[in-house]
Parts: sequence; C-alpha cells; structure tokens
Amino acid sequence: MEAIVLIGFMGAGKTTISRELAKALDYQRVDMDDVLVDRIGPINVYFEEHGEPSFRVHETNLLKEAVQQASVIATGGGVIMQKENQEILADKTVVYLKTDPDVLVERIRQDKENIRPNAANKNDGEIKHLFFSRENFYEKLAKVTVDTSHRTPEDIVAEIREKVGV
Ligand code: S3P
Repeated sequence: MEAIVLIGFMGAGKTTISRELAKALDYQRVDMDDVLVDRIGPINVYFEEHGEPSFRVHETNLLKEAVQQASVIATGGGVIMQKENQEILADKTVVYLKTDPDVLVERIRQDKENIRPNAANKNDGEIKHLFFSRENFYEKLAKVTVDTSHRTPEDIVAEIREKVGV
C-alpha cells in the first residue's frame, strides 16, 4: 500500500476526488492545502506577507512527509513546478486529474470558499495561460490520467481504481 498522489490544476477536483477515493479504499487522506492552512494560515494572506517562494518551501516539506504514508494526497495545483517536488513524485503513483480549461475557469469562479492567490486577480485568459504553462508538467509526472471535465466523482473514482489497480 503506497500513497496515491492526485495532481491537477486549480478546480480539477483534487479535494473532492481525494475524499471519495480515500473513502472507497479506506485510506487516510492528506489535503495539502488544508494542512498548510493549519500550519501557516490562509494561503492568500501568506502569499501577500511572505511571497510565493516561501509558500513553496512549506509545500515541499509537507509533500516529503505526506508521501511516506499510505494515503490519498490532494496536492495544490502548483506542486508540480518545483524541481524537488518533481523528483519526489517521479517514482510515486501520481494521478493527473485532467480538465478542460473552460471547465477549470468556471469551477474556480464558482468556488467562493477558496481564495486562490494565483487565480483571484487573473482574468479568464490569464488563468488558462497559467494552465497551459503547467500542462506539460502534469502530463509528464502522471502515471495515470483521468478526465474530470463533465463526469461524476463516482465515475472518476472508478476509473482511477481501474487504472491504478487498487
Ligand atoms: C495554487 C493552487 C492552490 C494552492 C495555492 C497555489 C497554484 O491549490 O496550493 O493557492 O499555484 O496553483 P488548489 O489547486 O487546491 O486550488
């Protein structure tokens, strides 16, 4: 039993799918953004006061801890950009939740709970641009890719289980 790491852009469904998958497998769940909020406070405030590079250090430290346990890990959308994280994830069971960019923008706009510093001040085109600049990293790190654009969590979880073999 090893960690299953969900990657994907903001709005891909990492939190929702991690809940359903962890429940189905009876695994522990680590939602990296939630743990980081416990450690450093609201992410948007932290970005403003300390900057993104400092946030990324906390994120990498947490990723190192999280992958030690047999758990389903919901990462933050930017986790794939750091070289150290890429190295950590290279031999892990990484599942890319792939989502149509228009759907991503729609979900990010609808989400009133999370204030995402890398989306809040961007227009739709800029958000998509950020997605396209990261897409290759998601694709390269993925062992398994599952589309989440217009599907139910049950469907998505079933496809992950089939492809990962859990
Ligand atoms: C970020 C995504 C967020 C969070 C932080 C930075 C990003 O996570 O880690 O706001 O740069 O894409 P979600 O993908 O869960 O929104």
